[in-house]
Amino acid sequence: MHWTSPESRSRSLYERARQIFPGANTRQQIWMSPYPPYLASGRGPWVTDVDGHRYLDLTGNLGVLIHGHAHPLVNAAIANQLEKGTCFALPTEAELKLGGLLCGRVPAFERLRFTNTGSEAVAVALRAARAFTGRSRIARIEGVYHGSDDLAAVGTDSSPANWGHDPASTPRYPGMPDAILEQVRVLPANDLAATERLLEAADDTLAAILVDPAPLRCGFTPLQPDYLALLRDLSRRSGALLVFDEVIAFRLGFSGAQGRFGIDPDLTALGKIIGGGMPIGAVAGREDVMAVFGNEREAARVPASGTFTANPISMVAGEAAMSLLDSAAFDQLEHLGGTVRQRIASIIDQAAVPAQVTGIGSLFCIHPHDREIRDYRSYHRSRDETDIMGRLHRSLLEQRVLLTPNGGGFLATVMREKHLEQLFDALPRALSQAFA
Ligand SMILES: Cc1ncc(COP(=O)(O)O)c(C=O)c1O
Repeated sequence: MHWTSPESRSRSLYERARQIFPGANTRQQIWMSPYPPYLASGRGPWVTDVDGHRYLDLTGNLGVLIHGHAHPLVNAAIANQLEKGTCFALPTEAELKLGGLLCGRVPAFERLRFTNTGSEAVAVALRAARAFTGRSRIARIEGVYHGSDDLAAVGTDSSPANWGHDPASTPRYPGMPDAILEQVRVLPANDLAATERLLEAADDTLAAILVDPAPLRCGFTPLQPDYLALLRDLSRRSGALLVFDEVIAFRLGFSGAQGRFGIDPDLTALGKIIGGGMPIGAVAGREDVMAVFGNEREAARVPASGTFTANPISMVAGEAAMSLLDSAAFDQLEHLGGTVRQRIASIIDQAAVPAQVTGIGSLFCIHPHDREIRDYRSYHRSRDETDIMGRLHRSLLEQRVLLTPNGGGFLATVMREKHLEQLFDALPRALSQAFA
């Protein structure tokens, strides 16, 4: 039975949700019209909905589940910890194991502090940059998603309705204070001259330049090497810190995106994969900067502490997942990613529709247009293109393939090409329905 059928169990759950949640949902990013299938379980690359349909899950909960669902070794680590207790008001060895593993992998991670989410990691990193520099402004790239913190969310909602020649500090919600908007310089990705000009104007007030080196809202297309190098150089020259948001991009290599692209940021925000499927975030970076969180000599200048921070369930799940992610696992993900993008591109070619696929490593994104993507504006979908994407997503879902609503896909180590055949088989029909 189809999940939208009036007799489906998904439908009855949706009807209940309408009485409880605004908009019937608790997470608008993954919501779809009229309502999505409700899930009952997941295992490996598959999820099963409450009506018993099995889908190939290419979302991995938006990049979290790099080993797929319910990995036995991650589950065993969680089960073992459950017996010992879930959270304490004193530290545990579990936090040292995961923290030590992460710092051991990335040279720029001289010190690390856990948070509960990626949004919190970004917010805490920006706070640390402000405290360290004694300055308040931040710069960030137009349209890119950095989570739900106010400061980091300015400029996310850029659209043709509000974009001028230079990117604007657009509010994320009505009533967002001007005092916050004024704190943010929004930069056009990969435009070196404009970025230099815009940053020079902010120069001695700038605390941080916040960058996702391969943002979803640029189709997981990495920023150009000369652009990343310019940001590194400009931040050094102006005395601002370079803050990488690797909440997703950390999955691009054994030493994260920074290892892959050869750039050492001052601070890095992490999340998603490092918690093995449990809630997590972290800020890591230069020892002198991280001293704002306190050290043997001085008390913390910046608050970064929470009831669930470094809870041992997230720590052991993260350690299990990250230990599985050795160089061989990255090689395998890299190879699968290349194959998937190539197969999708050739299916799009055969369908002769104006679509394209972009991405890097284990990330891919299907677009409802064939413009060259070099920044958020060229990625941005018109109303018609948004409708095409909606139909493509819906058709794939009906054929039991789950992508993110904007066409993003995240591969997992448990996936093989044979699993992906379900996507390759479904795509021709989805493209013809989308572009009909
Ligand atoms: C690049 C990036 N930064 C930050 C976040 C926020 O992470 P969280 O949802 O854990 O708060 C996300 C979430 O999708 C993200 O993709």
